[in-house]
Amino acid sequence: MAIVDTALAGRVALVTGGSRGIGRAICVALGQRGATVAVNYTSRQDAADETVKLVEAAGGKAVAVGFDVADSDAVAAEVKRLGKELGGLDILVNNAGVAVNGLIMRFKDADWHKVLDINLRGAFAVSRAAAPLLLRAKDKGRIINLSSVVGESGNAGQAAYAASKAGLIGLTKSLAKELAGRGVCVNAVTPGYIETDMTAAELPEAQRDKLMTQIPLGRIGTPEDVAGAVAFLAGPEASYITGEVLRVNGGMLM
Ligand SMILES: NC(=O)c1ccc[n+]([C@@H]2O[C@H](COP(=O)([O-])OP(=O)(O)OC[C@H]3O[C@@H](n4cnc5c(N)ncnc54)[C@H](OP(=O)(O)O)[C@@H]3O)[C@@H](O)[C@H]2O)c1
Repeated sequence: MAIVDTALAGRVALVTGGSRGIGRAICVALGQRGATVAVNYTSRQDAADETVKLVEAAGGKAVAVGFDVADSDAVAAEVKRLGKELGGLDILVNNAGVAVNGLIMRFKDADWHKVLDINLRGAFAVSRAAAPLLLRAKDKGRIINLSSVVGESGNAGQAAYAASKAGLIGLTKSLAKELAGRGVCVNAVTPGYIETDMTAAELPEAQRDKLMTQIPLGRIGTPEDVAGAVAFLAGPEASYITGEVLRVNGGMLM
């Protein structure tokens, strides 16, 4: 007999960047456990609609919602609207992110701003808009931020990306302290190397073999590996965990 996990039944979740990759797997994992999921996207409505179908196929409920996390006005309006439409908000997953890589001497201001605006200021803006709703959710309230192994370790050629991801850890710990009074838990996950559109372009076969030698578990991660950790942090079993940084990296950094 299949075991049905309904730990998130009746809860409402917003996953930024839920249209593809890790965000999509998170939407499915939350929907499978009973949450109603708002699937955010910025350009790929087709991909967001596909995620909605996958959540529904997994037995959950979902709606697609388009906004750019770096547009604070749109964020404020859409989060407020979603709260009304879905009857509140319990779980926010700040997953939307971009990587622009390059060595520092050639790195442009515009690329620095783009990465920091989407990855860090975006998570701040969505958290700020969601905070009143999450406080109302009390001890069901959760924020889970998608940081990265490179936010902890640094990486040559990824100064902006790593800075944005390190910043997310500071944001996580500060909001964990700020929202703890009402029982809202705020945590980060730091994935290692995960197979998605973000990483597909930049990993030729030779580099993949080299990378494998740095991952004790001997494989590249899947979006589902990360989604399982996020679903755990979103649920009742994680209600005494806050300000934590959970590594999901196959042992790449310990
Ligand atoms: N893949 C990895 O190895 C890895 C490792 C560590 C951490 N992470 C982090 O995990 C998160 C997801 O990564 P991924 O690999 O799944 O990336 P991905 O496949 O490139 O997908 C990125 C997602 O973010 C959305 N997005 C991008 N800019 C946005 C914006 N301004 N507003 C709203 N949504 C936006 C995209 O929406 P559209 O579909 O509309 O473009 C898409 O859904 C990111 O924060 C990333 O930094 C990834």
